Amino acid sequence: MEAKPASFKPSGPLTGRITVPGDKSISHRSLILSVLAIGKSQISGLLEGEDVLATAAALRAMGAKIEKKGSSWTVHGVGVGGLMQPETAIDLGNSGTSVRLLMGLVASHDISVTFTGDASLSKRPMGRVIDPLSSMGADFTARMSSDGKACLPLTVRGLCPAVPIEYRLPVASAQVKSAILLAGLNAPGVTRVIEPVPTRDHSETMLKGFGANLTVETDRDGNRIISLTGEAELSPQKIKVPGDPSSAAFPVVAALLVPGSDIVVENVGINPTRAGLFTVLQQMGGDISFKKKRTVGGEPVADIHVKHSKLTGIDVQADIAPSMIDEFPILFIAAALAEGTTTTSGLHELRVKESDRLSQMATGLSLLGVDVTEKEDGLVITGSGGPIPGGKKKTAIKTALDHRIAMSFAVAGLITKTGVAIDDMSPTETSFPGFADLLATLQGSAK
Ligand code: S3P
Repeated sequence: MEAKPASFKPSGPLTGRITVPGDKSISHRSLILSVLAIGKSQISGLLEGEDVLATAAALRAMGAKIEKKGSSWTVHGVGVGGLMQPETAIDLGNSGTSVRLLMGLVASHDISVTFTGDASLSKRPMGRVIDPLSSMGADFTARMSSDGKACLPLTVRGLCPAVPIEYRLPVASAQVKSAILLAGLNAPGVTRVIEPVPTRDHSETMLKGFGANLTVETDRDGNRIISLTGEAELSPQKIKVPGDPSSAAFPVVAALLVPGSDIVVENVGINPTRAGLFTVLQQMGGDISFKKKRTVGGEPVADIHVKHSKLTGIDVQADIAPSMIDEFPILFIAAALAEGTTTTSGLHELRVKESDRLSQMATGLSLLGVDVTEKEDGLVITGSGGPIPGGKKKTAIKTALDHRIAMSFAVAGLITKTGVAIDDMSPTETSFPGFADLLATLQGSAK
C-alpha cells in the first residue's frame, strides 16, 4: 500500500461527542464464531478495518458465506468442523489476531491452509500458537527466522477431530488462549486452558453466548481455569459490537493533554480486562468519568467523559499491563507531557507487537526532545509538565507498519511545540478507519 505521510500541529481545545469504530477483538470473534454456528447470525457495529476484513476474506476462502447490507453483516454459519479447503494461500496482511485465531480454527479441521502476511506480521513469533496446537494433533511447516523463530509464511494441516489438551499459558496472550479454545471446539472431551495472568476474556464470554459448554474457575493460586467441552453445537446470534476501548484511548488521551478540551466518547467497551489505561490515567490525575454504564451482549459499555487535566508521572505496576497491553504507546505520550517521571516494566511483549513498540516509541520520543530511557522491559519517561518540546521539523517519525505508533504520534503532534511529521498514516486503516477525520471533528475543523 502507498505510504501516507502527514503532519499534526498544535491544536486548540477538542470538544464534542464522538463514537469510535467497533472493537477489533470482538469483531474478529463475532465473524469466526458466527461461521461455526449452525444458521444465520447478524452483526452490527463490526469494525470494518483491514484486520477484520482480512478475517472475513479468510473465512470466505474457507467456504463461509458472509454478506454486508448497509452497516449490518450477515454470516451463514457452516457449523463446527464445516470449513472447507481454500484454493490458494491466505494473506492476512498486518493482522496478528487473524492469523493466530485462524490457526486454531484450522487446527481441528481436515484441511491444510497456508497463511502469509505483510513485512510486520511475517516477523512476529508463531511458536506460541504452534506448540499447543501441535499437541492437539495439527501439523505445521513454518519459515524459521534468522534468530530461530517460527514465522509466516506457514502451513497448518488440521486434525479432525483434534485431541483435547490441558495447557498452561507460558505468555499472557488472549490470542494463544483463543486459538486453543477454537481448536477445542472440534475435539472430543474437555480442553482446558490455565491462565496464570488473566487476559481479555471476550472469547470466553462469546463462546458461552453462542451456547458452548464453557466454565471459568479461579484456583487457590489465582490461576484462571477455562474448561471447554468440545464437539460443540453453536447457535446463531445477534451481536452488537461496542466501540473499541483501544481506539477510544487516542481521543481520550488527546483530550486530557490539549488545554481546554472536553469530550465524550460514546458507547465504548469498558471490560476490566481491557480498561487498564483509563485506571492508570485517572491515577495520573486525569478527569475521566464513565456515564450511562450498561451491558451490551455480555460486555460492559459506557460513554466516557474526558476533560483536560494536569497529569503527574507514576510508577505503572507490571500486573496491570495485560489489561492495557495495546495502550502503552499512547500512555507514553501522556507520560511525555505529565509532570515528573513515569516508569513502566514487565513489557517484553511490546517488542513482538506490530512493531517493537518499546524501541519505536523511545526513538520517536527522543526525536521530539523527550527525556526517555529504554530498558529491556519498559520505558522510563520524565515529562515536560507542559507541551512536548519537539525536534527538528523535517524528521518524520517512522511508524514501521504499526497503527498504534502512527496514532500515538499523531496525538503527540497536537501538543508538541513544533508539531509532528509522520512518515506513514496508512497503517491506521487496520483498526481505526477515519482516525484523522475524527480528530479534525473534535478540533471543529471537519471538512
Ligand atoms: C488480542 C490480544 C492481544 C492484543 C491484540 C488483540 C486479541 O494480543 O495485543 O491487539 O484480540 O486476542 P496478545 O494475545 O498477543 O497479547
